[in-house]
Amino acid sequence: MTDQLSHKADAWSGRFSEPITERVKRYTASVQFDQRLALQDIAGSLAHASMLHSCGILTSGDLADIQRGMALIQEEIASGQFKWSIDLEDVHLNIEARLTALVGDAGKRLHTGRSRNDQVATDLRLWLRERIDETQHWLVQLQSALIDLAEQHVDTVMPGFTHLQVAQPVTFGHHLMAYVEQLRRDAERMHDCRKRVNRLPLGAAALAGTPYPIDRQLVAQLLGFEEVCENSLDAVSDRDFAIEFCANAALIMTHVSRFSEELVLWSSPAFGFIELADRFCTGSSIMPQKKNPDVPELARGKTGRVTGSLVSLLTLMKGQPLAYNKDNQEDKEPLFDAADTVIDTLAIFSELVPGIFVHAARMREAATRGYSTATDLADYLVRLGLPFREAHEAVALAVRAAIDSGRDLTALQLDEIRQFAPKVADLISADVFVVLALEGSIHSRQHLGGTAPTQVQAAIAKARLRLAEAG
Ligand code: ARG
Repeated sequence: MTDQLSHKADAWSGRFSEPITERVKRYTASVQFDQRLALQDIAGSLAHASMLHSCGILTSGDLADIQRGMALIQEEIASGQFKWSIDLEDVHLNIEARLTALVGDAGKRLHTGRSRNDQVATDLRLWLRERIDETQHWLVQLQSALIDLAEQHVDTVMPGFTHLQVAQPVTFGHHLMAYVEQLRRDAERMHDCRKRVNRLPLGAAALAGTPYPIDRQLVAQLLGFEEVCENSLDAVSDRDFAIEFCANAALIMTHVSRFSEELVLWSSPAFGFIELADRFCTGSSIMPQKKNPDVPELARGKTGRVTGSLVSLLTLMKGQPLAYNKDNQEDKEPLFDAADTVIDTLAIFSELVPGIFVHAARMREAATRGYSTATDLADYLVRLGLPFREAHEAVALAVRAAIDSGRDLTALQLDEIRQFAPKVADLISADVFVVLALEGSIHSRQHLGGTAPTQVQAAIAKARLRLAEAG
């Protein structure tokens, strides 16, 4: 411990005449949370050391020592034996101190031509790149699960809602495919974000670059970065890549939250459309009949956390002058939390969706009860020559008559319907009942993006193809 302490003090001790207090130490340290970056930190250091060697800045012996030491450290971390010390402030100083303890002077030469400022930005980008790939994996899984369920329900009729009032009949398959579209755009956004995350800050050093003859392209290549950050001040200072990720994560959560809200509604006895598998629900300690949709509710709640992370990072950034400021140490916890939350949520929903049990008869009944084919009747009258506004009014009267007599539109007699549209009465025939039927309405939405089962089937095939291409 005293060895490590003196190491950190060594890092800048000459300049200071008194130690920091315990509280300030805790306040300024980040190792409690940034130790999550350990493997990325080691990967970055190894690439940096290889480059220093290939540029003639580090000897072969030093490089070998660093590689040997880092391999040991990696084992210590993996086995949980590594001793993290808050006296060493952050993940970078902890690992560097351990390296020096293990291999001596070579460890002290590792930091040549770099700073913790470009180091931490590099670590964070490497870490986030992995999280983006995980997010993408689960976005594909969840889309697949939704598509599979949609396929089972291309013919299952449910009420489509606007204002949460029964509007027009749709199929449950079509409804589910709406979420697939949302998640597809989320995946596109993540893909785009990854390009900007995947750029190398290392080489920027503290802020101005370094006088050593470094080769940044080589480091980028070794670490799989597609590009190099092209301004040293920007490289160490901006966290827009993390903000962008959080914005995308917040949108994913927002989509899952909307779906969650529907699951909560649909699984309530008042709707009775679906049942969630027991493993995603809990009971009540007082009301024995309850089965609560905890997972969707929590996803809805956790959406606030991820949106909070986005707002935290935006606020963290907005007042900072160039270049690096210690404020940026505060970027990690919100980013980690957003990534953890979005990945967990997507993974859990990928399992929850296949376990949804659908009460197709209840869905259908709800569509029947809500006069959901009223627009179809209006469209029918328009086809007979009535202007749409007049047709709208005629159907409004028909709906009112149906409500007053406690009947569905399909239960109206042909003569009654004719009375509401006297101008085209002669032209109204029994085929009006095809239009008023739920299936008639659904099958008539026969175009790209419509709810007709053949269209939904086509949308499913297309979505599957896209997923196969993306994967
Ligand atoms: N722990 C720091 C962070 O997360 C590393 C960079 C520290 N740089 C500095 N100049 N104090 O941002």
